[in-house]
Amino acid sequence: MRKKIYWIEGDGIGAEIWRAARPVINAALALESGDTLEWIELPAGEKAQTETGSSLPESTLQALANATLAMKGPLGTPVGTGIRSLNVALRQGLDLYACIRPVRYFDGLETPVKHPERVNMVIFRENTEDVYAGIEYAACSPESQKLIVFLREELGAKNLRDTAAVGIKPMTEHGSKRLIRRALRFALDTGQKSLTFVHKGNIMKFTEGAFRQWGYDVAAQEFAEDTCTEKNPRPGRLIIKDRIADAMFQEALLRPEQYHVLATPNLNGDYLSDALAAQVGGLGLAPGVNMSDTLAFFEATHGTAPTIAGQDKANPGSLILCGALLLEHLGIPAAAERIRKAVAKAIAAKNVTEDLAPQIAGAKIVGCAAFGDSIGENL
Ligand code: NAI
Repeated sequence: MRKKIYWIEGDGIGAEIWRAARPVINAALALESGDTLEWIELPAGEKAQTETGSSLPESTLQALANATLAMKGPLGTPVGTGIRSLNVALRQGLDLYACIRPVRYFDGLETPVKHPERVNMVIFRENTEDVYAGIEYAACSPESQKLIVFLREELGAKNLRDTAAVGIKPMTEHGSKRLIRRALRFALDTGQKSLTFVHKGNIMKFTEGAFRQWGYDVAAQEFAEDTCTEKNPRPGRLIIKDRIADAMFQEALLRPEQYHVLATPNLNGDYLSDALAAQVGGLGLAPGVNMSDTLAFFEATHGTAPTIAGQDKANPGSLILCGALLLEHLGIPAAAERIRKAVAKAIAAKNVTEDLAPQIAGAKIVGCAAFGDSIGENL
């Protein structure tokens, strides 16, 4: 079968990491199945700005709105146009409500912890609500003053100083449940041992506390046959648990092997994704996917690295590992595993890009293209 996938090159190091990554993804697929990918480029970013006068042309959004698969390199934040961030515009415009980040360790990388190999988690972060709603007003502005008066006089709010900056944290049952439902399905489909809701519900009872409760409700109402709680474990079933966010950071360091899938509101997931990626020494290798109900949009999680762009120094690992996520999503886990093993082997051989070299004793620095080639050969 021929599967159509849209791709956005991205700015800065985008072109070179794609040149290294695409052959690896195509080869892994060819080795494990008769399927092929039809790559269709969509304009976005600086290239689109130059060619079409818009950094995010309507035709690109339209194609993505009707697509099921897409992948992107990093996009710079445009200066002097109406869009605050292309990434945020894409996430909002396409309702990509689940931000999914798997975190695992590759042997041979030096990390800040003694047992990075104990970390093997997948984070499902809500991508449209909470602080991502972007509702906040500057201290002493007419808007915050008006809101403070309203909150005090109409809703009886106390402990609110006249000079406060004010932010609003909206979280809905619909928004939380669709994210949690997706995390539950993933955990069951991939045979995971546990799923943990990470929240700060002890303090924010009606937002984060509700997220926790909605989570348990979805599990009980829609997945009762396949799940159990920590208090009443049942053999062979997915264990549902919850942790307060600050405690989760301790757990991630002390007992990471007890956590498998995490479902989090926006801000908790933001912190946890980066902290866990750093814990395994792999911020530069972290892949990600943003999902709506119809579209899986894979993305390299790093930025455009402008200072090394065009110099064959960039690490294509994040985009290559996005390819592994894509192949898993297409139902070809053996091809995904082939890519992960090939990356692991390239790291073990110690010929790596300059960002990884300081983390590997005795490493030799190679360029972006050569690192991609060696991963391709390891397939
Ligand atoms: P950055 O991730 O581009 O760079 C941070 C540091 O990591 C730099 O030292 C860079 O050289 C290095 N680095 C990043 N990716 C690398 C790779 N693949 N190989 C080797 N080294 C790598 O973050 P920064 O500097 O904050 O942002 C630059 C631009 O990228 C901004 O316009 C920002 O808005 C955009 N950005 C886009 C993202 C996306 O499209 N998902 C994510 C983060 C930033």
